[in-house]
Amino acid sequence: MQPDEVNLTVDFLGLRLPNPLALTEGPLTGSAERIRRAAAHSIGIMFTKGIRPQPATSPNPFIAKSGRRSLMNADWSDIGFEQWLLDLEELRDRDFFLVASIAKNYVTPQQAADMAEEIARRRPDAISLVDYDPADLIRAVKLTRPRVKLPLMVKLCPFMPRLEEVLKTLVEAGIDGVAAMDSIGPVLTVDIETGLPTMGSADGSGYLSGEAIKPVTVKYVYEISRFVNLPVLGVGGVSSAEDVVEMTMVGATVVGMVAKPLLQGLQVFDQVEEKLREHLARRNVADINSLRGLTHRRVAEMQTRYDARAVIDATQCTSCGLCVRVCFQQAPLEVDGSTQIQRDRCVGCGLCVSVCPQKAITLR
Ligand SMILES: Cc1cc2nc3c(=O)[nH]c(=O)nc-3n(C[C@H](O)[C@H](O)[C@H](O)COP(=O)(O)O)c2cc1C
Repeated sequence: MQPDEVNLTVDFLGLRLPNPLALTEGPLTGSAERIRRAAAHSIGIMFTKGIRPQPATSPNPFIAKSGRRSLMNADWSDIGFEQWLLDLEELRDRDFFLVASIAKNYVTPQQAADMAEEIARRRPDAISLVDYDPADLIRAVKLTRPRVKLPLMVKLCPFMPRLEEVLKTLVEAGIDGVAAMDSIGPVLTVDIETGLPTMGSADGSGYLSGEAIKPVTVKYVYEISRFVNLPVLGVGGVSSAEDVVEMTMVGATVVGMVAKPLLQGLQVFDQVEEKLREHLARRNVADINSLRGLTHRRVAEMQTRYDARAVIDATQCTSCGLCVRVCFQQAPLEVDGSTQIQRDRCVGCGLCVSVCPQKAITLR
């Protein structure tokens, strides 16, 4: 199969997206001008930066690289509601999909519904409400739903308590989709040369996104798609085509990125789309939609094992010694230039399997 034969179109909120990639809320969608710039790339759908009533000034600095591939931010929209209405008006004539995102945290449920109605007149493709307080979010959806005909979705904060119950109530209130998740925080990182926090916010704290948070998102999307029969957008730590596949397998219809394009430029969307096509074509997967929920099906048939032990394929092993170094049981042994596992010492933890650069070790 050729990469261009792979179907990447997905249905989300009643829209047929050209691919499952989303640029979600952040500085890259912080104004009409920035949104139009991003639209030149292979992005299936975009979300405005969180719209608040008043413009905010984020104390400097408010974005910093953290570790090798993650990001800290303490960044709020520097344009307010009135300006966003003008920007959305300017974006009315467009050939890409756009969701207007309301930073519900900063307003009452009633104000959020008022904002949503006003925004809906500018014809974005959908409206999203983002909140950390589940009770407030539910109230906001209940007030907004009867006033807005556009698709309405919510974006959840990390670690939402009573997830199943909250989701059920949100579905009853009429949401059309769920996004997970916002950056994780508040968290703190410190510059060890100065002792100062890396963020300039009042208490120095910020929010973490990028690769460090991906396993949290994967679990979250897996859980959400167990509880609701609505399209889910997975965002948090995604940086590659393989990550898009992983998110799809745990139930995502759309997969977002913010930290990665901030660190490496918007062309990462074009690269990820191309790599995604190649990855699926190599595996003869004609349609990305066929992978959705695969993990749920595999988990249902998974058997708990206690007797698997590491086995080295001598034809692949280069005796690099990595498995010897990481094994706390000292099970691998180098004998005459080749490495073997002492089966009676191995406890089947799997660490050697995961570090072997040759993929020469399996658990059997
Ligand atoms: C600098 C920055 C600003 C952000 N601003 C918003 C925002 O205004 N509203 C919102 O819901 N999420 C915001 N986010 C969160 C992202 O939309 C996304 O949910 C999160 O960063 C996880 O994705 P990532 O790991 O790909 O960055 C922001 C993220 C970053 C890095």
